[in-house]
Amino acid sequence: MLKELWYILYMSLDIFRKKHYVEEQKLLREVKATELVLMGVGAIIGAGIFVITGIAAATMAGPGIVLSFILGAISLGISAFAYAELGSAIPVSGSAYSYTYSFLGEIIAWLVGWNLVLEYGISTAAVAVGWSSYFRSFLKNSFGITLPHALTGAYNPSAGTYIDISAFLIILFMFVILLLGIKESAFVSSFVVVLKILVLIIFVVFALPHIDFKNYKDFLPYGISGVWHATGLIIFAYLGFDAVSTVAEEVKNPQRDLPIGLIGSLSLSTFFYIVVSFTLTGVVNYKELNVPDAIAFAMEKLNMHFIASIISIGAVITITSVIMVMGLGFTRVIYALSRDGLLFESLSDIHPKFGTPHKATIVGALVLSLAAGLFPLKDLAEMVNIGTLFAYFMVGISVVLLRKSKDYNPKFRMPMAKILLPLNLFTLLLIMAGLPLLTWIRFLVWCLVGLLIYIFYGYKHSQLNR
Ligand code: ALA
Repeated sequence: MLKELWYILYMSLDIFRKKHYVEEQKLLREVKATELVLMGVGAIIGAGIFVITGIAAATMAGPGIVLSFILGAISLGISAFAYAELGSAIPVSGSAYSYTYSFLGEIIAWLVGWNLVLEYGISTAAVAVGWSSYFRSFLKNSFGITLPHALTGAYNPSAGTYIDISAFLIILFMFVILLLGIKESAFVSSFVVVLKILVLIIFVVFALPHIDFKNYKDFLPYGISGVWHATGLIIFAYLGFDAVSTVAEEVKNPQRDLPIGLIGSLSLSTFFYIVVSFTLTGVVNYKELNVPDAIAFAMEKLNMHFIASIISIGAVITITSVIMVMGLGFTRVIYALSRDGLLFESLSDIHPKFGTPHKATIVGALVLSLAAGLFPLKDLAEMVNIGTLFAYFMVGISVVLLRKSKDYNPKFRMPMAKILLPLNLFTLLLIMAGLPLLTWIRFLVWCLVGLLIYIFYGYKHSQLNR
């Protein structure tokens, strides 16, 4: 008993140990600011705008969804500044995990890392569900093929659906690609980014002249609280901007280029989100938008079938690339956590032939394909959002605490931090508070499981313990 008490006491003293990252050899490639912006847009624009916007407008915010996008952009825009500041302060390829590991200590870093597993893992599943709805719309619009109803949705016998088979299969397929280590070439990535933007522009150009201002009459059908709840859901559309900070060490002039990359990609996406959601709720009444392929559906409603097909195929291609980015992020987070000894170490094993973390990839394929097949998009997205907002919150706290230390010398400092940092923390909490109780319970259970893994495994096996 005494021994156990001593152990607990000892642990509680040592759980805030910090990892000191040494400056890694600078990679040769020097990434420029414009490339960073494109990279950010590549990770950001995906199922969020194509799928979730319609559902959130129909069931939560009405045309006021535009306000949800603005609130989300303000909050995450400041987070982007915080990422830029931390990225310029430590010399490693950054993520919320490495920042908190070096500044706030191991237990916080583990919780953040554990939530990043959730962010990347469940986003992969969520994005696959979004992909699947456009894939079905593409099959129907272009070839007149309809899948059996039972195979077109999450497990919900009362609605007659048992599995979303295309979401399930696309994850298996993408993880085979990740296992083999095939990466998108730079050419394909830039093509996809251009295609995404083009699809959204095509939608706006063809739909804008058909806006019926009567549709905005009932601008806030669910009141301000509807806008607030919707923000918790559509925040999903912004996730991924932090991918820009993962190449911090390859950036030529981080002081200038990191903020441009982070803020630039977020601003560009915000601009499109506001214009697209305004147009969408102007051409179709919000009540009709509770469909999984709202952007193509709106074109169908306007009798522009050919444009609807182009949008569906464009969405299928671009969302595929988001599945790949998120899936890769998932295997990398698992790899980083297990390499540091915080998660079961064999998950960081590298396949001798393919050079990829094959065990982490196989676990991901099995768990995430089932999640994508069996759970509805809304539940998945809300779960992702709460974990990610928590990680952003911790990044904000890191900046607040670090600014009190004399040894902290970031090359870039967030402007007007005295106002922006509290605003950031407040709005992140506000958005999290708007998520459903069930999501909170799932999130707390997830954190509890994480804590148990840390107490019984990570603490002992951590590299810092050796
Ligand atoms: N922001 C990404 C998307 O909307 C996750 O698909």
